Amino acid sequence: MTIFVDTANILEAEKWLKQPFVTGVTTNPLLLAQVKPTNRFEHLQKLSMLLNKEQLLMVQAVGETPDELLEDARTIHEMLPEAIVKVPADRNGFTIAPTLNHDKIEITFTAVFSAAQGIIAAFAGGHYIAPYVGRMQDAKIDPWEQIEDMMDAFDAHELDAHVLAASLRTPDDVAKAFALGCQITAKPSVLDECIGVENTEKMVKEFNKARLV
Ligand code: G3P
Repeated sequence: MTIFVDTANILEAEKWLKQPFVTGVTTNPLLLAQVKPTNRFEHLQKLSMLLNKEQLLMVQAVGETPDELLEDARTIHEMLPEAIVKVPADRNGFTIAPTLNHDKIEITFTAVFSAAQGIIAAFAGGHYIAPYVGRMQDAKIDPWEQIEDMMDAFDAHELDAHVLAASLRTPDDVAKAFALGCQITAKPSVLDECIGVENTEKMVKEFNKARLV
C-alpha cells in the first residue's frame, strides 16, 4: 500500500510523514504557490530533509516548451537527486520523456484525465501515472472506469507503471482508488478524514469513560 501526502506545507508534511503508513510527499506548482516560498529549491530541500530513508518526494517540473520543461526537470534532478520528477502528461511531457529515461530520471506523469493518456504515459516510461480523480469528476469523466482501463492495459502489456490516484476529495475516493489497486496521494485534510473518524472518536470516549480505574 502506498500513501503520499499531497502538500508543500512543511508543518503538514512533517506531521504526516511521522505516520508509518505515509510513503512520501507529492508537490506541484499549485501547492508550492500556496506556501509562497521565497526560494523554491530551499523549500523543497527542507521538505526532503523530513523524509526517512524509505520515503519519497515528488517534485513537478514546469515549462511552456519542451526545452524549458526539460531544463527544469534536470535542475530538479540535480538539486534533489532522490526526488521523482513529475511532468504533465501532455505533448511537452511526452517529448522530453525519452531524454529523462536516458538520464535515468524517474518520472511521474501527472494531470492525467483519460485511460489512453495514462497508457501512453506508461509506454513513454512513466513509473507513476497520476489521474486527477476529483477534477475528472468535475469534468463529468468517470475516473474509476478510466483507471480500470489503464490498469488492465498495464497488466496486458506488462508495463512497469503504477497508478497514483490524485485529486482525491473524500475517504470514499481513497477507498475506491485502493480497491482498484491504485497507490494514492491525498491532501492532509482528506487523510485526516480517513483516520479521524468521528464515530470512532465517540466510541473511544465511551471506552475511556467505562474503563475501570
Ligand atoms: O496531486 C495533484 C493534486 O494536488 C490536485 O488536486 O485537489 O487540486 O484537484 P486538486
